[in-house]
Amino acid sequence: MGTRHFLAFIVFVTLSSYVANATDPNQLQDFCVAINDPKDALFVNGLFCKNPMAVKVDDFHFQGLDKPGNTDNQVGSNVTRVTPANLPGLNTLGLSLARIDVAPYGVNTPHHHPRATEVLTVLEGTFYAGFVTTNQPNGKNKLFAKILHKGDVFIFPQGLIHFESNVGKTPAVALSAFTSQNPGVVTTAAATFGADTSISVDVLTRAFQLDANVVKNLQTRTFE
Ligand SMILES: *[C@@H]1O[C@H](CO)[C@@H](O)[C@H](O)[C@H]1NC(C)=O
Repeated sequence: MGTRHFLAFIVFVTLSSYVANATDPNQLQDFCVAINDPKDALFVNGLFCKNPMAVKVDDFHFQGLDKPGNTDNQVGSNVTRVTPANLPGLNTLGLSLARIDVAPYGVNTPHHHPRATEVLTVLEGTFYAGFVTTNQPNGKNKLFAKILHKGDVFIFPQGLIHFESNVGKTPAVALSAFTSQNPGVVTTAAATFGADTSISVDVLTRAFQLDANVVKNLQTRTFE
C-alpha cells in the first residue's frame, strides 16, 4: 500500500469509527449533577453540571417508581421516565430508566429509541413483546417476539421498532433500563400519521398502499 493509500485508509477508519459511535460520550469526571441555571455551572458534559462541592445525596435519589402511571387512555399504557430531568445525578452517566404500566389489553405501541438499547424486566403480569429488524437482504423485516412473565428480561436493540402488550388479565408492570440518558422516542403511528405538519397524503397512500381517504382518516386521529 503506497503512502497516499495508507493515509486514505487511516482517514477512512477514523471516519467510520466516528460515524459508528452512537452512544453517549464517556463521562469526564466522577459525576456531573444537572442544574437548570447555567450561571451556577462549572463543567459541561451533557447537561450543565453542578459545582461538585454543592452536590447533595438527594441529587442521586429519585422517589416514586412504586406508583403506577395512569393507563386510563386510548392505548391503555403509561411510561414513567427517570432521566436527568427528575434524577439530576444521572447526567453524563450514560443511562436512564422507565416504569412501564400496561392495563389488560393495553399496548405500549410500536416505537423506537434512536439513541439507546433497552433492557426490559417484567415485574408483574404477562407481556407479549417484540422487536423488528432493519430491512434484510431478502426484503423482509424479521420479528423477534415472545410471551414474557414476571422475572423475565428481554432486550430491544438500539434503534429497532418494538412494542409491549399486556396479554394477561391483571395490570402488567415492567422496569426498563436504557443505554442513554436521553434515548429519544419515535412513536411509529404518531410520527407517520400524526406529524405536524402532515406528510402528504400522496406519500402515505403510496407507502402504505391504502386508499387516500383511509390515510386522511388516520391523519385526523391523535396518537399517544
Ligand atoms: C401517565 O400517568 C401520569 C401519572 O398518573 C399522568 O399524569 C399522565 O397523564 C399519564 N399519561 C398518559 C399518556 O395517560
